[in-house]
Amino acid sequence: MQKKTDFLVIGSGIAGLFYALKVADHGKVTILTKTRREESTTRYAQGGIAAVMYPPDSVERLVEDTLKCGRGLCDEQVVKMVVEESRERIEELIFMGTSFDKNQQGTFNLGREGGHSEYRVLHHKDNTGEEIIRALLAKAGSHPNIEILENHFAVEIITQHHLGEKVTRYDKKTQCFGAYVLNPDTGLVETLLARKTLMATGGAGMAYFTTTNPVIATGDGIAMAYRAKAQVENMEFVQFHPTSLYDPATRPSFLITEAIRGFGAILKNHKGEEFMHKYDKRGSLAPRDIVARAIDNEMKISGDDYLFLDCTHLDPEKLKTQFPNIYGRCLEKGINITRDMIPVVPAAHYVCGGIKTDLHARTSIHNLYAAGECASTGMHGANRLASNSLLEAVVFAHKAAEDAAGSLNNSTFNPSVPDWNADGTILNEEMVLITQSLKEVQGIMSNYVGIVRSNLRLERAFNRLSLLYQETEDLYIKSVLTPGLCELRNIINIAYLIIKQARKRKKSAGLHYTLDNP
Ligand code: FAD
Ligand code: SIN
Repeated sequence: MQKKTDFLVIGSGIAGLFYALKVADHGKVTILTKTRREESTTRYAQGGIAAVMYPPDSVERLVEDTLKCGRGLCDEQVVKMVVEESRERIEELIFMGTSFDKNQQGTFNLGREGGHSEYRVLHHKDNTGEEIIRALLAKAGSHPNIEILENHFAVEIITQHHLGEKVTRYDKKTQCFGAYVLNPDTGLVETLLARKTLMATGGAGMAYFTTTNPVIATGDGIAMAYRAKAQVENMEFVQFHPTSLYDPATRPSFLITEAIRGFGAILKNHKGEEFMHKYDKRGSLAPRDIVARAIDNEMKISGDDYLFLDCTHLDPEKLKTQFPNIYGRCLEKGINITRDMIPVVPAAHYVCGGIKTDLHARTSIHNLYAAGECASTGMHGANRLASNSLLEAVVFAHKAAEDAAGSLNNSTFNPSVPDWNADGTILNEEMVLITQSLKEVQGIMSNYVGIVRSNLRLERAFNRLSLLYQETEDLYIKSVLTPGLCELRNIINIAYLIIKQARKRKKSAGLHYTLDNP
């Protein structure tokens, strides 16, 4: 069965929705989302969105902080563009219905996080992402040109490869004609033809055992684009957030926002001593790569499974008002953050690399755009500055929308696309293989490709992964497709890319730290 849409959007997080709202006046928009429309990583964003709103902050200062954090590997032109547009995009988010906290004077109540030299993070209490998604979904729901298909899983994007032509990674002629999509109502993989496709599938934290990411973060878009021969880069730069709540019984891990350190919370060891000043003069507010590595080191020296974040010296009423979500969640676990220190541990949080894009969010495949966490725009370099992700997502979603809408008339549907070739016959009884293989990949990545790496660890990871890859490809070919099997395959693909690109980077840089060349 074939369907047609002008703009296909894969993902209903901030990047997908912001883009959809911008192109919707130019044609029919179809948003695919693999579970419920509101479920995305965006929904869990706590700290907020960085922007230059007014003095004493300036474009130059946020550019400088971003470049410093990225350890010389950011694309300066991209960083300047994103920061220069930050205010305009925030005003659009507000126009679309998002509410950011203000203080009594009526100006924004700006927060601060690690690596920022200024208070500049707009937020909605400690549930900024939920507020953004609420507003964008309400707006998208009332637009007559936008349809949202829930529980629809994009399996592959369609290129000339599916027409029987050979496609190579550096082939500038490769084109995207839409996507093959698993429809939950029919159980069939259907063909969705599109004139323009945006990949907005988010990150890949599920490649690791301990992660702040929701279970949807399985790197599907990056894996699909890689298999379609798009260029994918910088996957070795996996950001570990220093402070997730230590609670081994709960997965994914609950985030304790960095904004709480911006508010005055301090990292401490089990003796109640501060330790961050040994690693960086910015102490608990140093950039994330430094703080996560410091915590990892302290835990290895002491043998402890977690350290502490201390808020007990802060004004309890202000703490509860500004961080109600964290206060409530910790209280459920028996921790009163106004009186007790919070046990914390680093967790995989964000993938800085992804599908390589240009200044207009165009990938190396014609008519395929990427925005949000699945894209590698050049903004983050070797380490992302806190709260720059939501900002990058809206700026590049805007760029993609401008380019896609402006060139829509040059793109037509391809009538020769064949239906999905469904060979597999094995039904879902092999679920046990999927769950066990997933645990194995997460174990490999957490044990050998985490915060600290080495040539030997990476080689071991690569060898262990090869067997899982082969077994999963065999299962994939024989099976009736399910989202779980596709996700496992994508996670293995992501793990492969992280290991492969980490092995190529011989010297430590930002989030990629190797004992062989620190
Ligand atoms: P997402 O919001 O993850 O959306 C991806 C969408 O794609 C989902 O709808 C998903 O269902 C869909 N999808 C995926 N695969 C498929 C498929 N195969 N078929 C169909 N649909 C698919 N960044 C900040 O800047 N500030 C913060 O305060 C902040 N806090 C964070 C807190 C937490 C706990 C976490 C985990 C991250 C945080 N980040 C923050 C990072 C930021 O939230 C994410 O990078 C950003 O929200 C990603 O948005 P996105 O639109 O790219 O993807
Ligand atoms: C946080 O609130 O600490 C997360 C912010 C981010 O990932 O940018």
